[in-house]
This record gives sequence, C-alpha cells and structure tokens, in this order.
Amino acid sequence: MMEKEKSILKTLAPYNSRQNSRQMHVIPLLISSILSSLFLLFLSYYSSSSSSSSLILSHSAVAHADFCSGRYLYVYDLPDKFNAGILRDCQAIFPWVDMCPYVANRGLGPHLNKTGSVLTGNGWHITNQWVLEVIFHNRIRQYECLTANSSQADAFFVPYYVGLDTGRHMWGHNTSLRERDALLLELFQFLKLRPEWSAKGGRDHFILSGRATWDLRRIDDIGNQWGGKLLMLPEVKNMTVLLIESNAWARNEFAIPYPTNFHPSNESQVVTWQTKVRSTNRPWLFSFAGARRPGQEGSIRDQLFDQCLKSTRCKLLDCASAGSNCDSPVTTMSLFQSSSFCLQPPGDTPTRRSAFDSMLAGCIPVFFTPHSAYTQYKWYLPNNYSEYSVYIRDDEVREGRVSIEEVLLKYNEEEIGNMKEKVVSTIPTLIYKDPSYKLESVRDAFDMAVDGVLRRVKSITGNENSI
Ligand SMILES: *[C@@H]1O[C@H](CO)[C@@H](O)[C@H](O)[C@H]1NC(C)=O
Ligand SMILES: *[C@@H]1O[C@H](CO)[C@@H](O)[C@H](O)[C@H]1NC(C)=O
Ligand SMILES: *[C@@H]1O[C@H](CO)[C@@H](O)[C@H](O)[C@H]1NC(C)=O
Ligand SMILES: *[C@@H]1O[C@H](CO)[C@@H](O)[C@H](O)[C@H]1NC(C)=O
Ligand SMILES: *[C@@H]1O[C@H](CO)[C@@H](O)[C@H](O)[C@H]1NC(C)=O
Ligand SMILES: *[C@@H]1O[C@H](CO)[C@@H](O)[C@H](O)[C@H]1NC(C)=O
Repeated sequence: MMEKEKSILKTLAPYNSRQNSRQMHVIPLLISSILSSLFLLFLSYYSSSSSSSSLILSHSAVAHADFCSGRYLYVYDLPDKFNAGILRDCQAIFPWVDMCPYVANRGLGPHLNKTGSVLTGNGWHITNQWVLEVIFHNRIRQYECLTANSSQADAFFVPYYVGLDTGRHMWGHNTSLRERDALLLELFQFLKLRPEWSAKGGRDHFILSGRATWDLRRIDDIGNQWGGKLLMLPEVKNMTVLLIESNAWARNEFAIPYPTNFHPSNESQVVTWQTKVRSTNRPWLFSFAGARRPGQEGSIRDQLFDQCLKSTRCKLLDCASAGSNCDSPVTTMSLFQSSSFCLQPPGDTPTRRSAFDSMLAGCIPVFFTPHSAYTQYKWYLPNNYSEYSVYIRDDEVREGRVSIEEVLLKYNEEEIGNMKEKVVSTIPTLIYKDPSYKLESVRDAFDMAVDGVLRRVKSITGNENSI
C-alpha cells in the first residue's frame, strides 16, 4: 500500500515523475553528453538570425481568403477509438494514477479556484504534463483557417493520441507488443488508403505526441522492449511530427512546449500575468524544484542539491520529501517567481516541463545540456541562448569543477533584467490558450507550431507544386 501511494505521488509530481523506464534513456543521455562538446560548433550554424516574432496578430483588415491562403488545415475525422475513445478509457492510461481529471476540461485538467496572491485571476488549471495531444486537438478546432475541402488544404492533421494510447500498454503487466501497436498500425492502414495521403505520400501530414521521442522509437518487436514505434514506421518518415521532446538528429521531428498550468482565455489575463512577473520581488538568486535521482547514472541532481543546500542564495524544493507539494502550481510558481535563476537539469530525458513553468514565472532557466532547450524549441526560443538562459556544462558540475552560485553572481542587475525581459516577452508563445475561446489577438504555442508545420510542409513539397 505504502509503495503504491509513493508511486502515485511520484507520478503526479511533474518534477519528480519516473514513469518512464530509465534504461531507455541512458542511451540518449550518453549521446547528449558526448555531443555537448560539439555544441559550440553547432551553434555557429544556427545563431545568425534571432527569431523575433510578433506576438500580436492583427488581421481584421485583411480579407479572410487572403489571410488563410497558404494556411488551410484539414483535420481528419478519425474513428473515435483513436482519440475520444482513449479518453473514455482514461483509467487505463497509467496503471498507478487516475488520469480522468487531467484529460477533462479539454485536456486542461481541474480549474484552480483559489489562486491566492501567487497566481493572477483566471486561466489557471492543474494540467498534467502528458496531455498535450488533447489540448492541441481542441485548440485546432478554434483555428481560423480550417477546411473540409482536402484539395484546398495546405497541411493535414492526424488527431491520434499516440502518447496516451502507447501509455496504456507501456507498463505491460498483461499486454503484448501486438496489442501495444494495434491501433497505430490500424491508423496507417486507414491513412494509406485515403486519397489525401496518396496525393503527396503523407508529406503534408502532421501528427503530435505528448510524450518524448524516446518513448516512440522501439526498434524491433522482440521481447518486451520499451515504448511504441510510431517514429520507426516508414510512412511517418514522410510526415512532420510534433513532440514535447524531439530527437535533435531526426529531420522530421520538431519540439513544441510542454503544457503549463496557465491557459488564458483573454488577452488581459496574459498582460496582467506578464506585468506581475516583471515586478515580483526575487529574494533568491537561484532555486531548484525536483528530486534527487539515486541510482540514475550520470544524473547531476545530487550535485545540484548539494550546491543549493550549501548556498544561502539558493532555495530548494525537494519534491521527494513528505509534504513538499510539488503538484501544486501555487507552490512551484511561488518558488519560481521569487528566484532570478531556475536550475533545469535533465530528468528521465534532457527536457523538463519545469523549464516552461519557470519561464512562465519570469525565472531565467539554467540548462546543463543543449538538448534541454537549445536543440529543441527552435520555433520558440531565441537562437542566441545567452539572451534568455545560462548554460553550464553538465560534466563540469558532475566533476565538481564549477560553482553555480559563482557563475550566476557574475551577472549584474542589468544583464539579469535583460534576460528576464526576454523570458517574459516570450511567455505568450510558450503557453496554450484555453481552447474554449478564440482569442485571436494572442499568438500562443499552438499558433507557432502551426506556422512551423506550414513552413516545413511548404519546404518539402514546394518544388513539386510549382512544376
Ligand atoms: C474548482 O471549482 C469547480 C467548480 O466548482 C470544480 O469542478 C473544480 O474541481 C474545482 N477545482 C479544484 C482544483 O478543486
Ligand atoms: C478577461 O477575463 C477576466 C476574468 O478572467 C475578466 O475579469 C476581464 O474582464 C476579461 N477582460 C476582457 C477584456 O474581456
Ligand atoms: C475545393 O477546393 C478546390 C481548390 O481550391 C476548388 O477548386 C474546389 O471547387 C473546392 N471544392 C468544393 C466542393 O468546394
Ligand atoms: C490480464 O488479462 C486477462 C485476460 O484479458 C484479464 O482477465 C486480467 O484481468 C488482466 N490482468 C491485469 C492485471 O490487467
Ligand atoms: C513518401 O513520399 C515519397 C515521395 O512522395 C513517396 O514516393 C513514398 O511512397 C512515400 N512513402 C510512403 C510510405 O507513403
Ligand atoms: C548573444 O547574446 C549575448 C547576450 O545578450 C550577447 O552578449 C552576444 O553578443 C550575443 N551573441 C551574438 C552572436 O549575437
């Protein structure tokens, strides 16, 4: 009983969740640390232009047809079992936690009624980190340029909840690989027969996973290996795949933000929040919310704990300790909005939902591998990572060669202010609006994702269109 309760706590805590099998993630982590050293070289390819996107879109004066030209999306009306049916079976998504409250409210989860002084006004929910497939599907229903005419469409969305489906079979007490892959394979049998697919061999199609790439790249069907195999299917190589964490070397994978707890329904909620986090008092130079990872090879969390505990300028929220309440948005956001810098080490994989929560609080993220953000969220974050974050190499932390406090103390007030402003001005594009509302004046993470998909589809199908 005790054990079960513990694991429920762990699953609920976004900063502490361990439901991913570790062994599968050792390999990507190893690769990522080897490649960290090549990172500066890599940056020189990508740092030329800064992605300054205008957040406010005004198209009232523009005729709808012109506005939508080149932006039409077609959303497949899939049989229920590929999406809504998975939500009805929400008890089965994770064996140890009831996901039903978290897939409710269009994927936003329970509404937070008491936000106190930490959070402002409405728009706050308890949102689980694995539900992006549901939020995105609901958000796309509000998209301004949907079409039911496939010959008018510029891109095609396939609303199959692949991460949630795979989750139902991943801890396989009882399920075989055949069962785990069944819906996935059925989906592609269905798609391949559709004229929309054959027109361009699926190269104008996209799909989204609310789980990291490493959970969907099972290499073969032998034994009881980890994960699903969406990303290994030949058909999918032609598609654009959106994920909360991509494989930086896969050309068709693009990372988009994890969902946070903030889902505004009007513009003033966004502006009010930005105004608040610009002006909060930040007594802590840095902070860390998370748990140690005993037994996880290569984890730097022990060193971060030790450095934080030793420093009078660091505030630690130990998510493994009783009563730490890391599930509560009020607890974590309160910490992040009172800290200038927030440490964001890898968890099971290099990326972490907490990075988005902390940026939402106007806290400057400190990353320890380029794969936590720089190689990932290129549609969202400035190319020059020094503008909004601090990079400290994980091997230097592991080997005890760097004091995080000393590194952070080198930034003066003006530099911190500039970085914070960069983070705060990025907030609208890092959040997912409440999908019940249109709210066209704010361009959110969904809008940025659609822009990215359309650019990508155009670039891979463009030549042949003009022939
Ligand atoms: C907030 O109130 C609504 C309506 O009464 C309720 O459904 C919801 O569960 C409440 N949220 C929380 C987190 O208690
Ligand atoms: C935005 O929503 C808040 C409640 O969340 C409401 O008080 C405010 O009047 C709304 N503002 C606009 C401009 O609609
Ligand atoms: C579908 O779109 C195409 C291309 O824009 C157009 O030629 C055709 O008339 C449309 N069909 C219908 C039924 O609206
Ligand atoms: C395993 O599968 C059998 C047959 O489908 C079922 O009766 C049983 O309840 C399942 N056990 C678990 C732990 O899910
Ligand atoms: C991928 O696209 C190419 C080019 O259109 C096409 O020849 C190929 O059949 C497509 N692959 C699949 C699996 O549909
Ligand atoms: C990147 O940003 C930092 C901090 O704003 C700045 O000092 C540096 O010159 C920038 N680098 C490039 C290549 O623009």
